[in-house]
Amino acid sequence: MKAICFRIFALLSFCSALAFGANPSVPQEGGKQYAEVISGNNALITPSDRANPLLYGGPEVAAIKGWGLDSPHSFGFGELFTILQGKYFALIFLLIVIFVPMAFYGHYKLVGKRHYAHNSFLIVFTKYNIIVHWCAAVPFVMLCLSGLMMVFGDKLGGGTLIRFARDVHGFATLFFAVFGTLMFLMWVKDCLFRTCDIKWMMMLGGYLDKVNREIPAHKFNAGQKMWFWVATLGGGIMVITGGIMFFQAAGIDTLRLMALVHNFVGFLVIALLITHIYMAVFAIEGAIESILNGKMGEEELSMLHSLYYKDLKAQGKLDSMRVKH
Ligand code: HEM
Ligand code: HEM
Repeated sequence: MKAICFRIFALLSFCSALAFGANPSVPQEGGKQYAEVISGNNALITPSDRANPLLYGGPEVAAIKGWGLDSPHSFGFGELFTILQGKYFALIFLLIVIFVPMAFYGHYKLVGKRHYAHNSFLIVFTKYNIIVHWCAAVPFVMLCLSGLMMVFGDKLGGGTLIRFARDVHGFATLFFAVFGTLMFLMWVKDCLFRTCDIKWMMMLGGYLDKVNREIPAHKFNAGQKMWFWVATLGGGIMVITGGIMFFQAAGIDTLRLMALVHNFVGFLVIALLITHIYMAVFAIEGAIESILNGKMGEEELSMLHSLYYKDLKAQGKLDSMRVKH
């Protein structure tokens, strides 16, 4: 008798699970189906779940489009999200990671590395600047790499590796949220735009010239300022949109919007990160030293940050900043 009761109970549970599974407007146990379907990321779904047509089958895609906003036929961002997520986002990320480095490779071959004399050096960054930079930069790079792994999760075989990337993405967010904020506070004053930045942009920072000349810039040039804002404010938008997705702290349509914004800002973040690394490592000989030991060649500073150099000179600060290499 006990066994029969148990079987009836099991059958009823199974049927009700199927009924719920077939109804896309009902979030599943622990929000799991809800979370994984709105993320649209098949790689995060186990193969056995994916094979279940009631949970993740074809009709689900149509249902996702119309799901939400409390109306049976309402689409909201559903259609846009499904099309972009299904067809374009991964492709755009792929084009960015191929073509941005290719453009810089072309620049490197045509214009080449910029050289400056390396006989006298000035301390331009403090130890605090350097520590905060790297404590924000390391999690940021991990976020971009693990983010790309999730975007290309299907191609990388999905499963444990991609679930691990997702955990890394979550942990790195916590570190970046702290050190990204410190980085913002540390450099925000130096990164407010000024009139000289327009001149810098008109001459593209002199990056296309083969000869060295004086470039109008203070402590940071317009390009560096743009990166600062994308890394800190853009990074902040990524923390907020990612956080809302993680905690599912909004209705379905807002979650879709968060995913859309996360991807669009993600394009910018990845493209400018590649640019930042190229500028620091390849474009100017020895430029990376400044964020490793705080020292920048005096000639480099006087040419690439000419307004800053003139200010320091006028204030008589150069001598106290000068160090041996
Ligand atoms: C991974 C390799 C990286 C290298 C080699 C690198 C190198 C550098 C260097 C050399 C500078 C000083 C620029 C100068 O004044 O001449 C700098 C500044 C800066 N870095 Fe990085 N960095 C890296 C990653 C990152 C990441 C991931 C972030 C994002 C959080 C970041 C954010 C910044 C910001 C906001 C500045 C100040 C503004 C600017 O110079 O663009 N860096 N970095
Ligand atoms: C500052 C940079 C970033 C921050 C702070 C950030 C933060 C987050 C957070 C907190 C989540 C939710 C995690 C979860 O649901 O487990 C998330 C999800 C996601 N992020 Fe990012 N992210 C960043 C950059 C990127 C980039 C550059 C990409 C793409 C290349 C990316 C792709 C994704 C994807 C695909 C998801 C959805 C994963 C899921 O379904 O859970 N992220 N992000």
